[in-house]
Amino acid sequence: MHKHVQVMHLCKTPVFTLVGYSVIGFAMYYFTYDPWIGKLLYLEDFYVMREYRGFGIGSEILKTLSDTAVKNRCSSMHFIVAESNKASIDFYKRRGASDLSLQEGWRLFRIDKENLLKMSAEE
Ligand SMILES: CC(C)(COP(=O)(O)OP(=O)(O)OC[C@H]1O[C@@H](n2cnc3c(N)ncnc32)[C@H](O)[C@@H]1OP(=O)(O)O)[C@@H](O)C(=O)NCCC(=O)NCCS
Repeated sequence: MHKHVQVMHLCKTPVFTLVGYSVIGFAMYYFTYDPWIGKLLYLEDFYVMREYRGFGIGSEILKTLSDTAVKNRCSSMHFIVAESNKASIDFYKRRGASDLSLQEGWRLFRIDKENLLKMSAEE
């Protein structure tokens, strides 16, 4: 990574990457728990500005996240990637990620506000 690129935690959970005083990338994460595998680091969002991609900044952010996960006794890091985002899928796979949808058949679900309200209003 370029010498004047800095990966830092500006507040508790996001990791920001700076060049001088400019933010050029970030990762947003939180800790969560799974009854079978224990504490996890959940990577909610991860982004490096287009013109700074391919210089190892994303890898450096992942290293910081891995370090944070290990220091906080997490057993793994979870995240979702759109099937169409092949470049990112390959990026993660080259760093040891396994595809749980393929291997274990997991699918992502959502209950929207309308249905939450409906259930919440039920007697
Ligand atoms: C995924 C992402 C964060 C990676 O960041 P990055 O700083 O480019 O990461 P790196 O430079 O460490 O590695 C990128 C890899 O792509 C290759 N690459 C080369 N040129 C590239 C370019 N212009 N753009 C992206 N990747 C490039 C690198 O060689 C490297 O290959 P490697 O896996 O063999 O090391 C970044 O591409 C991104 O923000 N993508 C859009 C948002 C996104 O899809 N986020 C993930 C959603 S879950």
